[in-house]
Formats: sequence, structure tokens, C-alpha cells
Amino acid sequence: MSGRYLVTGGAGFIGGHLARRLADRGDRVVVIDDLSSGLEENVPSPARFERADLADPATYERLNDETFDVVFHFGAQPSAEVSTEDPLRDFDSNARGTFLLLRWCESRGIRRVLHASSMAVYGESDGPIAETAPLLPRSFYGTSKLAGEAYARIFGLRGLDVTIFRMFNVYGSGQNLANLRQGMASIYLAYLLDDQPIHVKGSLDRFRDFVHVTDVVDAWLATVEAPVTFGKAYNVGTGRRTTVRELVDALGVAYGFPRGECPVRVEGATGGDIQGNVADMSAMQRDLGWQSKVTLEDGLAEMVAWAKARTGNGAR
Ligand SMILES: NC(=O)c1ccc[n+]([C@@H]2O[C@H](COP(=O)([O-])OP(=O)(O)OC[C@H]3O[C@@H](n4cnc5c(N)ncnc54)[C@H](O)[C@@H]3O)[C@@H](O)[C@H]2O)c1
Repeated sequence: MSGRYLVTGGAGFIGGHLARRLADRGDRVVVIDDLSSGLEENVPSPARFERADLADPATYERLNDETFDVVFHFGAQPSAEVSTEDPLRDFDSNARGTFLLLRWCESRGIRRVLHASSMAVYGESDGPIAETAPLLPRSFYGTSKLAGEAYARIFGLRGLDVTIFRMFNVYGSGQNLANLRQGMASIYLAYLLDDQPIHVKGSLDRFRDFVHVTDVVDAWLATVEAPVTFGKAYNVGTGRRTTVRELVDALGVAYGFPRGECPVRVEGATGGDIQGNVADMSAMQRDLGWQSKVTLEDGLAEMVAWAKARTGNGAR
């Protein structure tokens, strides 16, 4: 069934992948993005593209000539590091932008909204984190994402069918390799492409849950027409704990270094950074039978091949 979809942040990494998947199956896609961290090349060519700020009420007037079945909301300031330096911008894009979008959806009778949240809404945890865990963000970014979730819930009570995705560390082709402030895997890969040792800010023993963008897009699309997911928040991860040291090793191998010989420089730390977290994926498994498929090794191989082809850096 072909549909009409609005993808906010569709010039970004994850939104761009999802917009392309929809466009490839022949759906009508409109992308709205201010290109603050996204790239116009990520917008699939058949899509209508509006460069505009979600935090500006005038933006929505530009969309009133369209009707949409579903809104996929990715548009946000996505970096915890940037949020520390410019919390007001983070607030505008992530909290105010989400509120204005939801209010516009309600006014236009668009009921189905899928919302990108983050594991940053949780605090610190040793074991797998379930959706019922306390929501204690440690950064301005996590706080603004939690505000977005809270607005989504309120509009849910007023009639919208909202599903929230708390995504863990998403990686894969299409990440912005020029942005050294967002995305652990892409930042580390950018150092290798530049023939530099990977600069790790913080301990190699920190751990994360790395989920490939293909899996993430699959999870979102599996949810669109599943009423069981309405009004709920879901983790999107693999459930697998990977230390920064393991990531560096796996990335080094994918890049062509002998195992254990990837050059690394450990120096400094990022304010508000957490020791680690990993997703408890039972809720998605229970409600949708969904689980991630792409292994870290395969996902990194895909990402490295894409990056080398893009930069012409096939030396190693
Ligand atoms: N990448 C991850 O690991 C990850 C993890 C959890 C959550 N998320 C969330 O997923 C979403 C997509 O993240 P991403 O990794 O693709 O980042 P991204 O930077 O590639 O994509 C975000 C997009 O939103 C756009 N944008 C930002 N502020 C905007 C505004 N005010 N108006 C219009 N467009 C705006 C940017 O230009 C960019 O294209 C974000 O909401 C982010 O918070 C990402």
C-alpha cells in the first residue's frame, strides 16, 4: 500500500535512510530539514524537500498543501556535546520543535506519529535497561529528548497514535563523517580515514549498544501499522554490550589493520558522558517479534566500505 509520509530530519543520517526506503517503494515523501547537521544529498531525489526550522511556527504553513498518513520525526539537534555548549539551541530544536510539530499534526488530523528519542533519557546502569527504568538524563540533550517524549505522550492522550523509539548508538553508512561531535563509530572512522589514530575521549572500558541503521529502519517500519505500539516507548538496540575497546578493535579490523593494532589515543573526556548502557530488547521482541539482525562486524564492514568509496581512501 503506497502512502504519504512526512520525514522530519530526512536530510540526516537515520531519517535519510528511512526516507530512501519509503521513496524506493514508491511512496510520496516530503522531507523537512534545516540542514543544521544533515546533508541535502541524503534526501532521496523523488522526495519534496523543504529546508526549514521545526522550531519556527511559519515552517508548518509551507506543508499545508499536503496531506500525510504518517509523520516520522527525526529532526533534532542530536549531539550531547553540542547540547552542553548551546543548550538553548538544543531546547529549541528538540523540545519546542517537537511540540510545534505535534500541535500541527493534531490541527491537521494527522494521527500517526513516530518519534525519535534516545537512550540518553535514561541514567547510568550496569545491566540492560528496560523501558520502565527511571528517566534521569544526565545531559541537556537527554533532557530535551525527554521533553519531546512528554509532549508526545500528552498529544497521545489527546488522540494522536504516537510511538516513541529510544534508540541506542546507531551507526552505518550515511553518517556525517565531517561531524566529529556526534556518533562514536563515525567519529572514530573519520580519524582512520584521515590517517590519524582514533581519539577516544574517556575510558576504553565504557560500553554502548551499537545498532546498525538498517535494523533501526526495519524496526520503525515494522511499527507503523501495529496498534499494539500506539502510546508506547520502545528501546531500539541489539541488547549486546560492546566496550569502546571492542568497538575500536572491530573497526580497526574492518578498516584493514591486523587485530589489536588499530592506532588509538585516549585523552580527555566529554562532559555529561556516561559509563555505559545497553538495551533490554524484550518489549519489542514481545510486541512485534522484532530483533536486530546485523552483527557489529558486518555493520562496520558495510560502513567502512561506504566511507572508503566515498572518500576515495582505499589505501589500506
Ligand atoms: N544516531 C544515533 O545514534 C541516535 C541515537 C538516539 C537518538 N537519535 C535521534 O535520532 C534522530 C536522528 O539522528 P541522526 O543520528 O540521524 O542525526 P542527524 O544529525 O544526521 O539528523 C538530524 C537531522 O535533523 C535536522 N535538524 C536538526 N534541527 C532541526 C530543526 N530545528 N529543524 C529542522 N531540521 C532539524 C538536521 O539538519 C539533521 O539532518 C535525532 O532525533 C536524534 O536525537 C540518534
